[in-house]
Amino acid sequence: MTATIKLNDGNEIPVIGFGTFQIPNDGSTYRAVSDALKLGYRHIDTAVAYFNEAEVGRAIKDSGIPRDQIWVTSKLWLQDFGFEAATKAIETSLTKLGLDYMDLYLIHQPYGDVPGAWRAMEAAKQAGKIRSIGVSNMTTKIWQSFVPQFVTKPAVNQVEFNPYFQQRPLRELLAADEVKLEAWAPLGQGNQALLNEPVITKLAEKYGKDAGQIILRFENQSGIIVFPKSVHPARIKSNLEIFDFELTTSEMTAIEQLDTDHGQHNPDADGVQAILLSAFDVHADN
Ligand SMILES: NC(=O)c1ccc[n+]([C@@H]2O[C@H](COP(=O)([O-])OP(=O)(O)OC[C@H]3O[C@@H](n4cnc5c(N)ncnc54)[C@H](OP(=O)(O)O)[C@@H]3O)[C@@H](O)[C@H]2O)c1
Repeated sequence: MTATIKLNDGNEIPVIGFGTFQIPNDGSTYRAVSDALKLGYRHIDTAVAYFNEAEVGRAIKDSGIPRDQIWVTSKLWLQDFGFEAATKAIETSLTKLGLDYMDLYLIHQPYGDVPGAWRAMEAAKQAGKIRSIGVSNMTTKIWQSFVPQFVTKPAVNQVEFNPYFQQRPLRELLAADEVKLEAWAPLGQGNQALLNEPVITKLAEKYGKDAGQIILRFENQSGIIVFPKSVHPARIKSNLEIFDFELTTSEMTAIEQLDTDHGQHNPDADGVQAILLSAFDVHADN
């Protein structure tokens, strides 16, 4: 069992999981998720917009691991915002995953009829189809424009996070409501500059670990939930092996110095909603 952390709704989420963004639905997702489950991951992060929910679901089913021992997250795409469309999209994701319930379901991108989508998610939670509900890509500005009107507080906000982008103001805001931050791009999406930062490679040498493990351990010790993605079994394995060493306070401080206070993606930028909306048609494979 991997360690868990308690969300503000009382549910316990594994602190490390497996990410599936950009893993194709040609059998690769089935293979990678099957490998991850065999290696001990008990938390899988997918989304309708990744077009691989069906393979995630099949890998979970074929693993033979009891359903209640695996945490499954999926996300609602922009096309399906508003109460009715979101209600239908939740059923579609459950069908694709082959599951009776999802552990966590997120507003993937915070634009358009977010309040309507949120009400549908609250209703699905009430009906037992989703255990925890949360949001993603909410900056402090977007958070303040939507969340104060929500009846149910989000359990998490899944945002870009790694040593180059440590989201300090957002973390302060979330901490006030005991909302956990989940990191996407915890390894900077394989950013070589980050993986080769001297402060990180030196610590890797000291602990006999690789750069990815130092970065993930830093994030874990910062209280962040992570789900690194890899299609390579050796990395899937090593990314989980971060609990047999501990960074000291001064080592944590040294990595904190890498923060540039911005990331690859700026959810506040003009035109983001239109770009994202035209990026995927999540109804294409219905
Ligand atoms: N909510 C959102 O908007 C959003 C956005 C993006 C991602 N996500 C979620 O967050 C998850 C993680 O983010 P991500 O996949 O974008 O990026 P990531 O996990 O930071 O990085 C994945 C990349 O790093 C490489 N990699 C994996 N382990 C490595 C290691 N130990 N050393 C060096 N390179 C390594 C992988 O290559 P190989 O596969 O070749 O090993 C892949 O190219 C996603 O899979 C998805 O579930 C959510």
